[in-house]
Amino acid sequence: MPLVLITGAGSGIGRASALALARAGWTVLAGVRRPEDGEALREAGGPAVEPLLLDVTDEEQVRAAAETVRRRAGERGLQGLVNNAGIAAAGPVELIPEAVWRQQLEVNVVGVVAVTRALLPALRQGRGRIVLMGSVSGLVSLPFMGPYSASKFALEALADALRIELAPWGIAVSLIEPGSVVTPIWTRSAEAAQGYLLPPPPGTEAVYPAAVAAMTRIAQRNARQGLPPEAVARAVVHALTAPRPRARYLVAAPERAREVRLLRWLPTGLRDRLVLATVRRMLGRGAGQGPGAPGRARG
Ligand SMILES: NC(=O)c1ccc[n+]([C@@H]2O[C@H](COP(=O)([O-])OP(=O)(O)OC[C@H]3O[C@@H](n4cnc5c(N)ncnc54)[C@H](OP(=O)(O)O)[C@@H]3O)[C@@H](O)[C@H]2O)c1
Repeated sequence: MPLVLITGAGSGIGRASALALARAGWTVLAGVRRPEDGEALREAGGPAVEPLLLDVTDEEQVRAAAETVRRRAGERGLQGLVNNAGIAAAGPVELIPEAVWRQQLEVNVVGVVAVTRALLPALRQGRGRIVLMGSVSGLVSLPFMGPYSASKFALEALADALRIELAPWGIAVSLIEPGSVVTPIWTRSAEAAQGYLLPPPPGTEAVYPAAVAAMTRIAQRNARQGLPPEAVARAVVHALTAPRPRARYLVAAPERAREVRLLRWLPTGLRDRLVLATVRRMLGRGAGQGPGAPGRARG
């Protein structure tokens, strides 16, 4: 049976991917941060799912996971790595402390690099494939999602570099770019923001609180609407099993996918105006209130 390691498999997309891969005949090393999540996953997925404790920001746990893979895989090496673990820090850039920025990039970017580097010897040995969990937020950056978008834009760059660097060993690299998916990430994000957002400095009270309220509403909506995590898991399975895996998988409702493609290619000034209109619509307020018109940018 082919062997895959998935990070952040305790919930949401990671959990759905672990179960889908187990059903597809893979042995799944499922990275979780709490033993009880591992037990629940094993109960749902059966003996093909082997939980392991893996916080991607913990050097010792990353090293131990690589050792487990080495022992478990032996000469056959590792056939798949799914870098899925992620968090979403949200809010106005000015109100997010540097420590939160560091944590965002540490988990979503440095953690991906650390796990990938640690497992590359086993992947090379097993002629494995790598999947990175990007986002449409890595294609179009929305206001008040700065840290999260920055992390997902970084993954776009990382995927492009890795794909070519690892081609000599036949290690395919795929980036999944989901739109909204119904998982706990959005409520977690909104709850965490309550704890770290700084008070708005003088002169910003007319803008930031309304923006934060809109952001919370968007998070609540995303927590309810969107694709099921199984839709993303299907792309993960395709990336690991198809004879010709794709470099990118945009997984979103058709209208959302069209919107993202359009926003990505519009001149910047026009894109800013469309994004602003969307934010205002979500704020449920008329023009002239909430976030002000952006400075004219040339695309
Ligand atoms: N949901 C969406 O709409 C959406 C859209 C595009 C992309 N994505 C991406 O999909 C991935 C999975 O997110 P999700 O939506 O499934 O949310 P989720 O249910 O919150 O899953 C995130 C997982 O990452 C784990 N995690 C967080 N910090 C970690 C760390 N330091 N080390 C190891 N694991 C860690 C979490 O573990 P704990 O439970 O222990 O915290 C959790 O299992 C993320 O990369 C996210 O950015 C999600």
